[in-house]
Amino acid sequence: MTRPKNDTLLRALRREATPYTPIWIMRQAGRYLPEYNQTRARAGDFLALCRNPELATEVTLQPLARFPLDAAILFSDILTVPDAMGLGLYFEEGEGPRFERPLREEWEVRDLTVPDPYDRLRYVLDACAQIRRALNNDVPLIGFAGSPFTLACYMIEGRGSQDFIQTKRMLYSRPDLLHRILDVNAQAVSAYLEAQIQSGVQAVMLFDTWGGALSHAAFHEFSLPYLRAVLARLPRSYDGQIVPQTVFTKGGGVWLETLADIGADCVGVDWTVDLGAARARVGNKVALQGNLDPGVLFATPEVVRNEAAKVLAAYGAGGGHVFNLGHGVSQLTPPDNVSVLVDAVHELSRQYHQE
Ligand code: CP3
Repeated sequence: MTRPKNDTLLRALRREATPYTPIWIMRQAGRYLPEYNQTRARAGDFLALCRNPELATEVTLQPLARFPLDAAILFSDILTVPDAMGLGLYFEEGEGPRFERPLREEWEVRDLTVPDPYDRLRYVLDACAQIRRALNNDVPLIGFAGSPFTLACYMIEGRGSQDFIQTKRMLYSRPDLLHRILDVNAQAVSAYLEAQIQSGVQAVMLFDTWGGALSHAAFHEFSLPYLRAVLARLPRSYDGQIVPQTVFTKGGGVWLETLADIGADCVGVDWTVDLGAARARVGNKVALQGNLDPGVLFATPEVVRNEAAKVLAAYGAGGGHVFNLGHGVSQLTPPDNVSVLVDAVHELSRQYHQE
């Protein structure tokens, strides 16, 4: 049994009492940190950094060296899974992710297979193991994957998109093909997350970044069941410890009750919802993660502190809150404001955690 010395995150995810509200930040290891940019330059590019367990470990630890964060998150990307399926991931400088071979033809969808993570994604699992050793059990390590639907968006479009025209065309004209992709993705993601757990991650998170782009009916048909399927296939505990599961559908505030009901321990929320109202809606079913607007970090330290206080007050007293931003930290964020945020959350949250 290897419980981290600081286990506030794991406790909050299980809605247990903690002395303060734990905080970590989506994209905490990233381009807003000059040391990250230096390591990335040494690696060559972003993908080379992901594929080098040594350097991936180095950048995972960088934000923890600067700020007293309550968790580390594996440094990698959600798109390594479709890359392992043979779609050919690459990044054009300043342009975001691209696939050389997006899914265009029916036979390409039929031929899609579930990659063995121990073979095609070994570099990620090696990074998990190396990060765990380097963390020395100080804080827990979070593993992650993209949701089946969010991965499908990139696999079909071949890149990021505003409107997901190709994905929606398939959804409405050939739903059978989309279901086939989602089924393969759900199997791939659960095998991948299980392998991450066996390699040392102590909590997992599913990023459903584009679920919020779906209609109410389409979300319930094309994203939700596959989120549920992934979570159901994961081991609930490993090495004598429960492995808490978080699901985050960006723009999913309208479906909170439903998201709270798919078996996850925690639901991530973006900044469009009031955390107190969200808490009332999910009751004591799940913990909540979020939800400061990342834009707050462009204001003055005083504003950062006040806005953090508002989020804490909105959640109110008691356990079950994991502080985070409502989405990833921007690359233009001044690192000093992240420092102010982490300190503010630790200090101001104590009043909400007295017996
Ligand atoms: O949170 C963390 O610190 C862990 C690492 C992490 C990255 N990507 C590193 C990364 C995680 C959890 C992700 C998830 C991810 N990747 C998502 C879901 C979450 C979200 O942000 O919505 C998505 C949609 C992707 C796909 C992806 N990867 C995009 C769209 C981009 C470009 C974004 C941008 O800001 O340019 C990436 C690249 C990426 N992934 C970077 C990092 C640190 C920046 C790459 C660089 O250094 O050039």
